[in-house]
Amino acid sequence: MMKKLLGMSIPTLICLVLILSASSQEDMRYVSNEPFDNPRRPPSVFRHDEHNELAEIETCSFCHHVYDDKGQLVEDESSEDQLCSACHESERSGNKPGLMKAFHINCKGCHKAQKKGPLMCGQCHVKTGAKDE
Ligand code: HEC
Ligand code: HEC
Ligand code: HEC
Ligand code: HEC
Repeated sequence: MMKKLLGMSIPTLICLVLILSASSQEDMRYVSNEPFDNPRRPPSVFRHDEHNELAEIETCSFCHHVYDDKGQLVEDESSEDQLCSACHESERSGNKPGLMKAFHINCKGCHKAQKKGPLMCGQCHVKTGAKDE
């Protein structure tokens, strides 16, 4: 195994790592609350792929967005390789909401607009199970 890996070129190895990490959302079942210092709620249920299929959201960048310096959305770019917390800090800065708000505006905003999907705290922050399912 080691010999085989060592035999691969650097670009091949980089690709392999990218492919492996890109498929990591496949069995994502909740949004981690690790970036929060003292989480007050259980992590929110979010079956990434299943959710996005059911909700018929086709563009990754709808959630994994990229903005330019002027605050304009960059249409064809996606930040799927970064956690939301890579850019959203605990407090808001300018037009960039703080981390909790960023999640709530994204998730609840769409559920409200579409009149589909949970809006009550306990429906997302499910007390038992989210982690152990
Ligand atoms: C549509 C799903 C959804 C709903 C509804 C929702 N949240 Fe959240 N909330 C999230 C997500 C996603 C996060 C990011 C971290 C995580 O998974 O807990 C979060 C984070 C938080 C955090 C910061 C992390 C922590 O645990 O301290 C708090 C506090 C919170 N929510 C409270 C609430 C309260 C109170 C309500 C009801 C008024 C609510 N949420 C409704 C999805 C939701
Ligand atoms: C409805 C919003 C939404 C859509 C649409 C979406 N994602 Fe995600 N994705 C998330 C959230 C939320 C996380 C967890 C981010 C965090 O914990 O900060 C995540 C995590 C990921 C991760 C893991 C990131 C990491 O570094 O651990 C990958 C990879 C990913 N998404 C890829 C995709 C791809 C590819 C698409 C399009 C096919 C997509 N996502 C569409 C919301 C979304
Ligand atoms: C590469 C950095 C970056 C990442 C990663 C990122 N954001 Fe943002 N986000 C921004 C910036 C910058 C703004 C402010 C844009 C502006 O100036 O209007 C913003 C604005 C927002 C807004 C308010 C505007 C809107 O779109 O409704 C929400 C909500 C939001 N982000 C949620 C999220 C969520 C949820 C994630 C993870 C799935 C995420 N962001 C990942 C940089 C990022
Ligand atoms: C662009 C719109 C959109 C966004 C953004 C979105 N959702 Fe949803 N969500 C939906 C729709 C539509 C449904 C109902 C799907 C169905 O059952 O037909 C749904 C259903 C759900 C459900 C119930 C079904 C299930 O999988 O258990 C949960 C939980 C949920 N969403 C959590 C979240 C969280 C957490 C986020 C933010 C990280 C989020 N959603 C962001 C549109 C969205």
